[in-house]
Amino acid sequence: MNIRIKRGYNKSMLKEIKKDVYWVGKVDWDIRKFHGDEYSTHRGSSYNSYLIRDKKTALIDTVWRPFGSEFVKALDTEVGLDKIDYVIANHAESDHSAALAELLSRIPGTPVYCTANGVKSLKGHFHKDWNFVPVKTGDTLDLGRRKLLFIEAPLLHWPDSMFSYLTEENILFSNDAFGQHYASGFLFNDLVDQAELYQEGIKYYANILVPFSQLVEKKIDEFKKLNVPLDMICPSHGVIWRDRPSQIVTKYLEWSKDYSENQITIIYDSMWNGTGRMAEAIASGIRSEDDQVSVKLFNVSRSDKNDVVTEVFKSRAILVGSPTINRGILSAVAGFLEQVRGLKFNGKQAAAFGAYGWSGESVEMINEGLHKAGFELLNSGLKSLWNPDDKALDECVEFGREMAVQSAQRGRETQSS
Ligand code: FEO
Repeated sequence: MNIRIKRGYNKSMLKEIKKDVYWVGKVDWDIRKFHGDEYSTHRGSSYNSYLIRDKKTALIDTVWRPFGSEFVKALDTEVGLDKIDYVIANHAESDHSAALAELLSRIPGTPVYCTANGVKSLKGHFHKDWNFVPVKTGDTLDLGRRKLLFIEAPLLHWPDSMFSYLTEENILFSNDAFGQHYASGFLFNDLVDQAELYQEGIKYYANILVPFSQLVEKKIDEFKKLNVPLDMICPSHGVIWRDRPSQIVTKYLEWSKDYSENQITIIYDSMWNGTGRMAEAIASGIRSEDDQVSVKLFNVSRSDKNDVVTEVFKSRAILVGSPTINRGILSAVAGFLEQVRGLKFNGKQAAAFGAYGWSGESVEMINEGLHKAGFELLNSGLKSLWNPDDKALDECVEFGREMAVQSAQRGRETQSS
């Protein structure tokens, strides 16, 4: 006999995460590129919006434009738009603010709490004179039994960003900080694959927050000085930190202090594999000198650029290689150098290498790019004329050995200084 078990499904947008506090966001399983083409989202993402029901009802952040209409419609059906007393815009970037236009067209006059920079950004995006209420660190909004405490967090991730802290429930709504581009059917950190969560967390930090590491450290210190209990961190992307929320704070402090692991990464591109063979020989030289160091190679034209940046973040040293082409370097390597220039890693060493046939400018150009990006150059680099022969490959092995020694030595000097 066929027994058909009928299971219901919860189609409500309201997912209660603590008493009277709801996640009302959107999980985006489809997205594979974020920030245009700048950030790969292999595991999707989410746009987390939160609703607090007290004597007054507050909505924290919204969702990205493609999901704006369904978001507003569901809020209307399940909450009632006229029941929303306050909108909190922790950050004006479109992934969190896009649905504001439709929402506020339905409930014009609803106060929008944001920083002074938030007012500028939201006006710049939407060209609307909404009922803005600019707030500063320490300002509060009374919801009834609970209060929202605002904490400006400039450049985490934009100049307008702020955190909101909910008293009584002890929840920090941190917006981009502590987030991950990670779609999940689960809402909480303790329910998901921990390796996936770690990978998406460190990738997010490496690709988005590295340039602001000093501010991360300061902001965490400032928050600790508030001496308020912390039961939950609710970021605007990915899962909520309810199990030991301090674990991600500890990681952020670790990552913000010139983070590196015992890893050397070789990033290159090649036309006829001359530079590619150099890369392999350099890698074997590093390994022959130090069998404890993790050596990873990436042909940057065939690799995901954000995954490569994550590996750079984990590295104590990198080597970058390109042949010379048209008195320059290959475009994938140029793109990589531009990407790391903007991120400004600290405390990492680097060296350049490349094969050439005629003019041979690539190594100098890579050196220049690495210097501009804040890497410490350990030497003037290694060139190889034409297709590397056995002698040239032996030189690459030796170059790798020297690199391992110099990098380890610099690491010890930095630790003792
Ligand atoms: Fe998730 Fe800076 O926006």
